[in-house]
Order: sequence, then structure tokens, then C-alpha cells
Amino acid sequence: MAGLRVEGIEKAFGRGERAVRAVCDLSFDVADREFVFLLGPSGAGKTTTLRTIAGLEQPDAGRVLINGSDMTWAAPRERNVAMVYDKNSLYPHLSVFENMAYPLRLQRLAEPELRERVMGVAKILQIERMLERRPRELSGGQQQRVAIGRMLVRRADLFLMDEPISHLDAKLRAHMRLEFKKLQREFQSTILYVSHDQLEAMTMGDRIVVMNEGVVQQIGPPRTIFDRPANRFVAGFVGEPSMNIADCTLEDAGGAATLRFGHQRLALDRDWLDAAGLGNAPARALSLGIRPQHLSLAPQAEQGAPNVIRGEVYAAETLGSETILDVEADGVIFRAWIRNSALGRAPAIGEAIGLQVDPRAIYLFDRDSGKTLAFADLSRLDDAHALSSPSPLIH
Ligand SMILES: Nc1ncnc2c1ncn2[C@@H]1O[C@H](COP(=O)(O)OP(=O)(O)OP(=O)(O)O)[C@@H](O)[C@H]1O
Ligand SMILES: [Mg+2]
Repeated sequence: MAGLRVEGIEKAFGRGERAVRAVCDLSFDVADREFVFLLGPSGAGKTTTLRTIAGLEQPDAGRVLINGSDMTWAAPRERNVAMVYDKNSLYPHLSVFENMAYPLRLQRLAEPELRERVMGVAKILQIERMLERRPRELSGGQQQRVAIGRMLVRRADLFLMDEPISHLDAKLRAHMRLEFKKLQREFQSTILYVSHDQLEAMTMGDRIVVMNEGVVQQIGPPRTIFDRPANRFVAGFVGEPSMNIADCTLEDAGGAATLRFGHQRLALDRDWLDAAGLGNAPARALSLGIRPQHLSLAPQAEQGAPNVIRGEVYAAETLGSETILDVEADGVIFRAWIRNSALGRAPAIGEAIGLQVDPRAIYLFDRDSGKTLAFADLSRLDDAHALSSPSPLIH
């Protein structure tokens, strides 16, 4: 049984005016055998949180409970947590094998089992041919895998991982994503994994804790985070390419309900608006959000039709079978993800173009607080799958 509970953690660095509030009133839990992600941009407070749980940093307030025991003030070695440290923490004078075996030698594990565990992990990490080498005879990515291996050979209650694969190349990252998931099932481990990569979190996590500027934004399973983001930050952070977000005004004076920004007008579904409690109210400042997968090219003849954003091609990035089209409309760049088969010839920069908006795919946010006021109506989207799955982009 291994569970983690973090309660009301506060941590600031420095004092007075120059103090940085790295973590503010942070609470979440990780159940036994759960794989939870701490996801957020650089400076969100992820590493600080992990170091506090490992006992390498002391919180200004709050508690850390491991397996139900208060470990807030316990020494790191009393906590039975395994953390992946940087590759620079490898012992330079020891071989790869001995580096990985080190924690097991400390536990005085019998040689045959020690060998079996190291070899098993080395195979998964694809370093079994390098076991006799010293760390300096390896590439940076190989060293990082040894550091991961040294953690995985242990059977800890709780594994803490701080961006363990962010320095590996794309192909190895994809391999490791699958392997971590498999390992977690096999070893039945409890893992808290820090990342700024939403694709990792979406594909591996049972649940995701999204953080920004030290504050929890949302906690939930990947699908919920993606389909029902609690606020504009989460909506924009999760998904690749990111959701398009633009300031707009909602006008609903009876009859048609319209979203306006600049010269653009989008007609909204009345039932949807009423269900969100936004209908028949004075004009209101909002932000709209729409994922690039839900913008399509408007046929030439329909460029004056409703729900078409009219603009100019700003950039076009052609990938294998899709093109990411950046269209500038009233000072806002909208990204559209268009299948090459629907595109025909490559559009020219500066060319006038219309993007068809599916009004059921729109999210509405309060402009000031960022809170989500209306969610896209996924059940009524023809292509709901595209919205509900993480990007197929390999990166
Ligand atoms: N030892 C320290 N002294 C002063 N400020 C610090 C210290 N460690 C972290 N900070 C600050 O606390 C904030 C959170 O840092 P933290 O390292 O936890 O972020 P992070 O989410 O891990 O970011 P990244 O994705 O870049 O690793 C940042 O503003 C950082 O500058
Ligand atoms: Mg960090």
C-alpha cells in the first residue's frame, strides 16, 4: 500500500519584496498504484513540489503524508521514495552496471537477484550493451537512461520522477512513454511524474494535476482535462497545436446570439447558450476558444456565410498528411489543422481565406477570471473523436 497526500503546501524562496512564491496552498493526492502527473509550464513550481515530497526542501506550511503517516519533517531516507536525479549524479568511477546496482548493494540484495533486476531494467531502457562502460563513455541521453535505471531497480513505495525523459530524442521518448506505463502496471508502483509536456501527461497519466505559477488549476483524468478544461489556462496548455483563444463580446438581445470580435461574427446555438446560463443577458466581455482540429476551410463561395472567420494566410506549415495553417483575422492568429487532401494546393502567404467554425466546438471563458463558462458540446460534434484525443502529432 503506497499513497501520497499533499495538504496545503506553501513554499516561498527569498524574503521581503524579492520573495518568490513557488508553491501556493497546494493540495492533491496520489492513490496506491496510481500514475499521477504534475503538469505545468516552466516555473510552475513542479520541481519544488517534488523536492518537498522527497524531503529535500522544507515547506513553509502544509503537510506531506506518505502511506497515511505525516512525513513533513522526516529525513529523505526515512520516506522510502525513489527519485530520479539528474544524469550528473552518476558515479563516474563505477560502470553502468555498478551504478544501477548501487541501491541494491546498499540493501544487501543477493547477487543473482541483483543481477536479474539490473539486467531486466537495462533491457527495457535499451542499455544492456553498455553495462561495462563508465558514464563518461556514454551520450547524454544514455547517461540519463542509466539514472532512470538506478531508480527503477529499487522497489520503492513511491517513485518521484522529474522530467526523466525530456532530454531523450523523439523516438526514444515515444518508446519510454510506453515502457513507463508498462513498468507501472508490472511493478504495481505509485508514481508522481513531473512534466511540462502535455503529450506525456495525456498518454501516460491516470490523473493530471495542472499547475501554473504555484497554483493548482485543475485535477482530473486526461480526458476531462482535455474535454472540460476548468479555465482558459488549462484549455490553452493542453492540446497540440494549442486551442485558439480570442477576446470577444457576447451579444444576445433576443433573437440571434452573436459572438463578435473585430469585424467577425459567429452565431451561437441558443439551447447551448441557455444551458450555460449565458443567454439573454447584457453584452459581456468573454474569451472564445476553439481547437485547431475544429476549424476547416470555407469553400470560396461561402466566404460571406455565417460562422466563417475571414482573414489572411499568415503562415503554413505542412506536415505529413496535414497542414497547420495560421490565419490572421482582426489581429488574432488562428491556427487551423487541415488535412492535405482537403487543402488542394498550398495556400500563399497573404492570400485571403475563410475558416469555417463549428459553433458546437466553441468554449467560452470569463475574460477576467479565465474560468470556463461554456464547454464545447462534444456529444453533438460529428468528429468528436478529433477533439477528445490528444494530438496524433509525434514530437
Ligand atoms: N532555490 C531557489 N531559490 C530561489 N528561487 C527558486 C529556487 N528554486 C525554485 N525557485 C523559483 O521557484 C519557482 C518554481 O520553480 P520550480 O523549479 O519548482 O519550477 P518548475 O515548475 O520545476 O519549472 P521547470 O519546468 O522550468 O523545471 C520559480 O520561479 C523559480 O525561479
Ligand atoms: Mg523543474
